[in-house]
Amino acid sequence: MPIVTITRRVHFSAAHRLHDPALSDEENLRVFGPCSNPNYHGHNYELDVSVTGEVDPATGYVADLGTIKRLVEERVISCLDHKNLNLDVPAFADLNPTAENIVIVIWQMLQGGLPAKLEKLVLWETPQNYVEYRGE
Ligand code: NI
Repeated sequence: MPIVTITRRVHFSAAHRLHDPALSDEENLRVFGPCSNPNYHGHNYELDVSVTGEVDPATGYVADLGTIKRLVEERVISCLDHKNLNLDVPAFADLNPTAENIVIVIWQMLQGGLPAKLEKLVLWETPQNYVEYRGE
């Protein structure tokens, strides 16, 4: 059976601040740059959710992208969109909401619910910066 990877792109907007509470504001600015602004700032995130599986000979699908869209909206978008990640999302209460940590948290939110094997997440924080995670 041919194995194909399919991807659904979703979008969310969220505020965050990157900082280490053990460091001064000046030291945080040196480590995290403008993302350490104490009054927070926003990003428009794009998330690509890729799943892999056999192509069903009856439907020609690996999985129904509508099902994936609904699951991602329920488990991820409803928790993160228009939220302050530091203050509103318990996963980031003691975890710096870098793109790296956000993509790992999203992976945990999606584990076990998708109609095909979760293959890869790609999270764009800006049009210039993205991170990839395969669950390792
Ligand atoms: Ni930022």
